[in-house]
Amino acid sequence: MKALVLSGGSGTRLRPFSYSMPKQLIPIANKPVLEHVLENVKELGVTEIGVVVGGRLSQIQTVFGDGSDLGVRITYIEQEAPLGLAHCVSLARPFLADDDFVMYLGDNMLPEGVKPIAEEFTADRPDAQVVVHKVADPRAFGVAELDAEGGVERLVEKPQQPRSDLALIGVYFFTSAIHEAVAAIEPSARGELEITDAIQWLVTHGRDVRASVYDGYWKDTGRVDDVLECNRELLDGLRPSVDGEVDAVSTLIGRVVVERGARVIGSRIEGPAIIGAGTVVTDSRIGPFTSIGKDCVLTDTDIEYSIALDGATVSEVRGLRSSIIGRFASVGPAGQDTPHHRLVVGDHTRVEVAA
Ligand code: G1P
Repeated sequence: MKALVLSGGSGTRLRPFSYSMPKQLIPIANKPVLEHVLENVKELGVTEIGVVVGGRLSQIQTVFGDGSDLGVRITYIEQEAPLGLAHCVSLARPFLADDDFVMYLGDNMLPEGVKPIAEEFTADRPDAQVVVHKVADPRAFGVAELDAEGGVERLVEKPQQPRSDLALIGVYFFTSAIHEAVAAIEPSARGELEITDAIQWLVTHGRDVRASVYDGYWKDTGRVDDVLECNRELLDGLRPSVDGEVDAVSTLIGRVVVERGARVIGSRIEGPAIIGAGTVVTDSRIGPFTSIGKDCVLTDTDIEYSIALDGATVSEVRGLRSSIIGRFASVGPAGQDTPHHRLVVGDHTRVEVAA
């Protein structure tokens, strides 16, 4: 089996970060979302991975190269315009040939993995097998209607009146039968070739399409709040380790990771939390549920349920909550005797100041 990981999309809901980085590189527990996805694929025993990218090939390639650091082989496939998930499948046809494959959306996190579902697919080889998850409001997703045996009766993309609560959550198993379906469908109202429509085509043409329910934690990391919540979930499973330096007056509580070259001075770190390599934390309180990237500087600050990306600086600002601080961004006090706030914030940035 091969894998096709989709890593394009404009990420408008993740602005301002998505202006300067593909959304799939947003770190969750200090690792890009896409790395979590690739590890998940590798757990299925799949190492031949096609990664479909939009205009951000070089950034993704810089991080993952040919995949050898992760023990996989990556083939990059460029999609010039976001013409839909089914369009990605047709672009990837030369890579996929007639092999079975798992398709995985590069911004969907299923930390418990889908190994049992992959094993079912490999044993029975239905034409397609989709992964679904019960959600409270499925209107933003593809929705599956199933019969009593788990067979798919109907799939509808983002229905206004969903007839079930089972959302498609970005992982699909296919045989080569999908290629005929992809070639047969027309673009949807949003102008995209929908994979949901291609799978529905298989259903309509009497092919064997099944669904498996994934009960574990799932998150589409499309929005800032989703990223923070997913970070919380992943940090919850953190294994503590201290490879950096922690001075005698600092306290680490619970599951804390202090990476190599990081220094914690006169501070209290409440787990779960990660302090990235080369970061210096002084006279601060960090955590819980907080990831601090590499080479950050935090001084006299207090930050909880937040993420700081690599190179961020925070000093003398307390009570930071539910915040994401971008790469090399700096948050600090005004100059001496200045009674004002000074903001130099980029496009689509959000600043919320407590009264
Ligand atoms: C896509 C699929 C949808 C699926 C969702 C999962 O939606 O079209 O069927 O439920 O991913 O994240 P999109 O993110 O393109 O709106």
